[in-house]
Amino acid sequence: MLPFASCLPGSLLLWALLLLLLGAASPQDSEEPDSYTECTDGYEWDPDSQHCRDVNECLTIPEACKGEMKCINHYGGYLCLPRSAAVINDLHSEGSPPPLPPAPHPNPCPPGYEPDEQESCVDVDECDQALHDCRPSQQCHNLPGSYQCTCPEGYRKIGPECVDIDECRYRYCQHRCVNLPGSFRCQCEPGFQLGPNNRSCVDVNECDMGAPCEQRCFNSYGTFLCRCHQGYELHRDGFSCNDIDECSYSSYLCQYRCVNEPGRFSCHCPQGYQLLATRLCQDIDECESGEQQCSETQTCVNYHGGYRCVDTNRCVEPYVQVSDNRCLCPASNALCREQPSSIVHRYMSITSERSVPADVFQIQATSVYPGAYNAFQIRAGNSQGDFYIRQINNVSAMLVLARPITGPREYVLDLEMVTMNSLMSYRASSVLRLTVFVGAYTF
Ligand SMILES: *[C@@H]1O[C@H](CO)[C@@H](O)[C@H](O)[C@H]1NC(C)=O
Ligand SMILES: *[C@@H]1O[C@H](CO)[C@@H](O)[C@H](O)[C@H]1NC(C)=O
Repeated sequence: MLPFASCLPGSLLLWALLLLLLGAASPQDSEEPDSYTECTDGYEWDPDSQHCRDVNECLTIPEACKGEMKCINHYGGYLCLPRSAAVINDLHSEGSPPPLPPAPHPNPCPPGYEPDEQESCVDVDECDQALHDCRPSQQCHNLPGSYQCTCPEGYRKIGPECVDIDECRYRYCQHRCVNLPGSFRCQCEPGFQLGPNNRSCVDVNECDMGAPCEQRCFNSYGTFLCRCHQGYELHRDGFSCNDIDECSYSSYLCQYRCVNEPGRFSCHCPQGYQLLATRLCQDIDECESGEQQCSETQTCVNYHGGYRCVDTNRCVEPYVQVSDNRCLCPASNALCREQPSSIVHRYMSITSERSVPADVFQIQATSVYPGAYNAFQIRAGNSQGDFYIRQINNVSAMLVLARPITGPREYVLDLEMVTMNSLMSYRASSVLRLTVFVGAYTF
């Protein structure tokens, strides 16, 4: 009796029939009534024939095979094979078993061998002559006297069929695994690439691979970061860099003018000034720097933002010059009787908009006579009342700026010192002619 323990797949039944035929057994022996109504995977119960019937998964499963694979229905399952694969032994056509071996005639050779012309036994290549029962999913290997059905690499024999091994179940891949018919492929998350073993994932250095950072690129595990040079800030897109307008941040960055430049800023100073410590403006002393072009008979006077060449001899009749800055009115000259006995020229420079009151110049009597008293006053040049005199003692006084003034402008003040000695009924006057340059700026 055949050992039918459960519903046999149709093909097995067919082969069992064939074997029975070869073994000269009665075909009726296989017609044992089958009362099982449960079928194994890939089969369904057919009440008409009272047998398990193969399911054609190629028709019932949508997209049973993906991509370039073609679906080949098979007993108890189906195969996905490359379109180019030739199916040599098509067992689908049910009821057409492989050709039977030629009519038996005396064969002196053991099974799997056949006599050749010289009557010696040679191996039968069952694979070549289609005398094998390998499934289309299997590979046939000829052996001396027999043959072997094996599964291609990546397939495993489950029951009679070769079934694709889902390698992904074995955690071969570090990140992601894609099962393929007969093989598998590892994939990596973005920012990683397959290592040399095709399984582990190694960080991609995007910075070396043309990451779109405009300025600086820092690789990090699985990703990268863009950074900008000093003076730039990262754009919202995370890649490009925008120049920072430092000048718009603060009006105190530069004393005079701030000029924004790509990645930086610079301070500029007005003419006559030079940059000091990157942000301050310092007056250039043209008289010292060699820039001045004063003649031999002139004296160079520096002021905030420029310089002036003044005639060394500024004495006007009846005054005569006695030194570089000093004019005397000789007592012998009758015209000098009502005039200050001397005029001394001095120059000074102040900045615009000084807070007031501001001491700007101290006058000091150069010669002190015993018992004499000195009084100081502004004799000319102060029609607007921008200055006043504060007497410190009877030999010195302070010129005080009374009002905030804005340059550029220029004052010529006659500061008079009157010396009196009541005992000797002596009165003398001398004038300090002070030119005050007011620069255009507050520095
Ligand atoms: C990794 O895959 C490539 C391309 O598929 C192949 O050429 C290489 O031999 C594989 N390396 C290993 C270690 O399997
Ligand atoms: C200043 O004036 C006083 C009298 O007001 C006098 O005694 C003195 O000698 C004068 N000179 C000096 C240098 O103080």
